[in-house]
Amino acid sequence: MAKKIIIANWKMNPETGEKAKELFSLSRKAALKLKNTKVVICPPNIYFQSLGGLASKSGRISMGAQDVSIFSGSGPQTGEISAEMLKKIGVEYVILGHSSRRELGESGSDINKKIKNSLATGLKPILCVGEKERCDNGEFMKVVEAQLKESLDGLKSEKSLKNLIIAYEPVWAISKKGSFKADNPDSVFGMSIFIRKTLAAILGEDAVKKIPIIYGGSVASQTVKDFLERGGVNGLLVGGKSLVAKEFEEILKIADSSK
Ligand code: 13P
Repeated sequence: MAKKIIIANWKMNPETGEKAKELFSLSRKAALKLKNTKVVICPPNIYFQSLGGLASKSGRISMGAQDVSIFSGSGPQTGEISAEMLKKIGVEYVILGHSSRRELGESGSDINKKIKNSLATGLKPILCVGEKERCDNGEFMKVVEAQLKESLDGLKSEKSLKNLIIAYEPVWAISKKGSFKADNPDSVFGMSIFIRKTLAAILGEDAVKKIPIIYGGSVASQTVKDFLERGGVNGLLVGGKSLVAKEFEEILKIADSSK
């Protein structure tokens, strides 16, 4: 059985390095008990250096960034952090195309450049796709299809595609100020099939077999088992609940014992 992957997107949290260390240590402790699950923690960039030692000591828990520059290497671009820089400090994954970045103006072609830079550097991109609204006529699937096409343009024969992960994260399902309204496993199952078919058309059948599809949006311990067993996904992208150590531990435990 392929390992499941649980990715924690800490977003702009926590506020201090001390709290970041504490949360990371507790998450690592929980990750060490798992057999079938890979854990990736995506903190704000400023914490990588202090958390790096903790991540590498265990080997079971990896670090991911929440974005990367469209520029590569080093250069005069103020405020940017390149894929190479992240890789050099031990970052293994990078979330790309998250709806909060798209909202700030990130375009499909930006995401495409970021994916190419990441793959070329050996970073594993987690590409987020998802509609803002769910409508009854199926139009939302066209939104997801267009996002996949734009983001993955020109990558068909790329050997490093095995490092790509697709996260289906409907924007309406992302938690807001403590309000959680997840998608349901049957609908996620339908979307996982649709995403696989779309990926096959863009990248070819063979490449797609190796690409995990995960779900994100108001994931909580109560829904983990259903998403993993009935949602047709290989893992989960967890936001709010990854900041609550006890709850995240429970999510990991349930994920590890799910079929
Ligand atoms: P929530 O789990 O808080 O809904 O966040 C999902 C998300 O945006 C992860 O990238």
